[in-house]
Amino acid sequence: MVDYIGTERLLELVARIGTAQFITGLAAEIEADFLRWNDFEKSARHATHSEVGVIELMPTCDGRLYSFKYVNGHPKNTSQGLLTVTAFGVLADVETGYPLLLSEMTYATALRTAATAVLAARTLARRSSRIMALIGNGAQSEFQAVAFHHMLGIRELRLYDTDLRATLKLERNLALLNLPGLHIVRCGSTAQAVGGADIVTTVTADKCKAIILTPEMIEPGMHLNALGGDCPGKTELHPDILRRPDASIVVEFEPQSRIEGEVQQLPQSFPVTELSAVLSGNAPGRTSDRDVTIFDSVGFALEDFSTLRYLHRLHNEERGAHPQIDLVPDLDDPKNLFARLASRVVSARAKGHLVVAQSA
Ligand SMILES: NC(=O)c1ccc[n+]([C@@H]2O[C@H](COP(=O)([O-])OP(=O)(O)OC[C@H]3O[C@@H](n4cnc5c(N)ncnc54)[C@H](O)[C@@H]3O)[C@@H](O)[C@H]2O)c1
Repeated sequence: MVDYIGTERLLELVARIGTAQFITGLAAEIEADFLRWNDFEKSARHATHSEVGVIELMPTCDGRLYSFKYVNGHPKNTSQGLLTVTAFGVLADVETGYPLLLSEMTYATALRTAATAVLAARTLARRSSRIMALIGNGAQSEFQAVAFHHMLGIRELRLYDTDLRATLKLERNLALLNLPGLHIVRCGSTAQAVGGADIVTTVTADKCKAIILTPEMIEPGMHLNALGGDCPGKTELHPDILRRPDASIVVEFEPQSRIEGEVQQLPQSFPVTELSAVLSGNAPGRTSDRDVTIFDSVGFALEDFSTLRYLHRLHNEERGAHPQIDLVPDLDDPKNLFARLASRVVSARAKGHLVVAQSA
């Protein structure tokens, strides 16, 4: 049997700890893994594009555990009542190759994206940051709001989305959470939300080179948490923002980000720094209060690896039965895979259920 975390179980595990506390714990797991960056086998994800979206496989391995995530990105899905991003993942034992956990990862992706964004902002944003603009108020947005409020001390959130219903939904959800000291401001445009913000999070979905932020919106000292540009031909920042002489760009895994991130708009030789180098102190993040720092996030397999391992531990820490799924046969004789099928066939025949296929 393989451990199984469906959406209900995931919600149970997160609710028991609390969303903000869960993200804090997850951020610590992700940071610890980024700090042992060289232990991981890394590759750009395998992306299968169509006109309306992308389906991606994201594997990684540290020699002991292996993980992969299946994830899609279909910005037009919401108009049909479907999510833009859905995901599931597997954690496996390298020694035997057996899967240990099959887990939902739609919620888990939103949680880990928030955890990673805060990790980056903790080293890149000014320590005094209190105001965040949140552009794109869809499925990911509450997770970003909760994480930045709890872990970074954001006290004013300025919301903007081209779809007013998305912003109203975010406001309702944040009101339910009643986050202490958090002031919410609904804005009429991106420019209004961004003006005077310390941190700007862009988490919009459109399968095009969108220009959510233009150069004149950017003020010295800002930290840009750019999450929505994560596919070839799908970006959010005007390239002149990336080219600012006072800007530094941090990415997760450079070979993947060159293909999918905002930096796809720049020559391959344009300097970027990997998050692992900043977290380990081997590269400077912010050097002055006037630097513009840009976390050009696309999401990397290591973040999902840490998330699956964290979820697996929480799942098993509880006493009593926890959900499992019969994904792999459990056999007395591993060379006799056929035996159980044979006994099923014999029993189906005895009950008269067997339909004999006609040969051509
Ligand atoms: N970097 C990562 O690790 C990571 C992880 C998950 C999702 N994402 C990306 O984040 C984005 C958002 O994902 P989601 O699940 O919240 O999608 P979603 O469809 O639920 O929400 C996206 C929101 O963006 C809004 N929007 C679109 N164009 C806009 C514009 N020009 N200005 C303002 N708002 C605009 C839409 O109205 C929608 O409400 C997607 O592009 C997804 O691929 C990145």
